[in-house]
Parts: sequence; structure tokens; C-alpha cells
Amino acid sequence: MAAKVALLFFTFGLALLATVTADPDLLQDVCVADLSSGVKVNGFACKENIAPEDFFFAGLAKPGLTNNTFGSLVTAATVQKIPGLNTLGISMSRIDYAPGGLNPPHTHPRATEMVFVLQGQLDVGFITTANVLISKTIKVGETFVFPKGLVHFQKNSGQVPAAVIAAFNSQLPGTQSIGATLFAAQPPVPDHVLTKAFQVGTKEIQKIKSRFAPKK
Ligand SMILES: *[C@@H]1O[C@H](CO)[C@@H](O)[C@H](O)[C@H]1NC(C)=O
Repeated sequence: MAAKVALLFFTFGLALLATVTADPDLLQDVCVADLSSGVKVNGFACKENIAPEDFFFAGLAKPGLTNNTFGSLVTAATVQKIPGLNTLGISMSRIDYAPGGLNPPHTHPRATEMVFVLQGQLDVGFITTANVLISKTIKVGETFVFPKGLVHFQKNSGQVPAAVIAAFNSQLPGTQSIGATLFAAQPPVPDHVLTKAFQVGTKEIQKIKSRFAPKK
């Protein structure tokens, strides 16, 4: 009984947290980000003179270059590219995948993500906090949802390039890529933390760290 009550409070607490951690609502028509302002607020300070260009971005029109380690590229259309998104609580990105390309496991601390497949076919999935993998193969015209904060990935298992458009309910969802977060942080996460966390030796940890080190 006590456990049930505790669980109820815990669940309610989480739900409450989810409500208050969405992007805040706007208090005026527009607040175009002044990205060069030194004023620190939650989001960006509004600039005085606004123009159509502040609400425009052509960067998702063309495929991004996928000739990198993971064979994928995220082109973001967040408030940093479209200053007019400031305080509006949404953004998008385009993700391109070479054949075999992977958008490695990562989380967006501030947004739920919904992808729409432009071309190709992808194996996608997210993992719940109970460590249950929810995965599916999706193809052109189909959509899939990655709930806010949960670790997720997309892989192009096909023989041709793939691409998606992703929508987010945050002007700046933030991305924490699990591999890079743990193995490429600066200053580094100490080896003894990672050996204990992953139950392997220092050698294995240093090998993974070396793979994430910037290419010389
Ligand atoms: C990827 O391809 C572009 C254009 O073909 C080239 O300029 C760039 O150097 C390549 N990058 C890597 C990492 O190979």
C-alpha cells in the first residue's frame, strides 16, 4: 500500500515536472532573438527591428554531407538559425543518412521529437526509463515519435541514402549524444568512473575515448 502511494506521488511529481519544463509561453506577438546581445535571459533578448529574413531559413532544402564517422548529418533549424523562433516553442531539423549511416543514441533534454521520412528507410527506436526498447522500421511518408528526454537513434539499414524532417516542441531542444557525452567530455570523465559504470578495464575505456578524440 505504502509503495503504491509512493509510486503515485512519484508519477504525479514526474507529470508536474514535465508540465513546468516545456518551453515557456510567449507574452507578445514576436520576440526575434538578438543573438549578439550580451543580455542573459531564459532564451534570447528581443531585437528592435525585425525583418522577413528573421523568420526564414533555406538550409533544409538540400541534403547535408554524410561523409563522416557516423554517416549521418543533422542540419538544425533552431532559434540559432531562425531568430524569429525565439519564445515560440518549436523548431525543426533535417537529418541525412548515408547507406548504413547512424544518428547515434542521444537525447533532447527540452523536446519531444517527431520525424517524417523524406526518402529511404530507417530503423528507429527509443528506450524508456524502464529500459524497454521501442523500435520500428519506417519508410517514406511515415512518422515516428521520440518522447522528450528519452535516449533514441535512427539507422539507415538500406542501400540508398535516407532523409527525415524532424519537428521539436522547443526553440532549442539541445542534444546530448551518449557516446560523446561520456567519452569526449572536456575535462574528461575520469576513467575510474567509466570502468566502474561499464564494468570493463581502463584499456577498453581509453580505446573508446581515443575513437572520440578529434581527428588530427
Ligand atoms: C566530404 O565531402 C566534401 C565534398 O565532397 C569534402 O569537401 C569534405 O572534405 C569531405 N569530408 C570528409 C570528412 O571526408
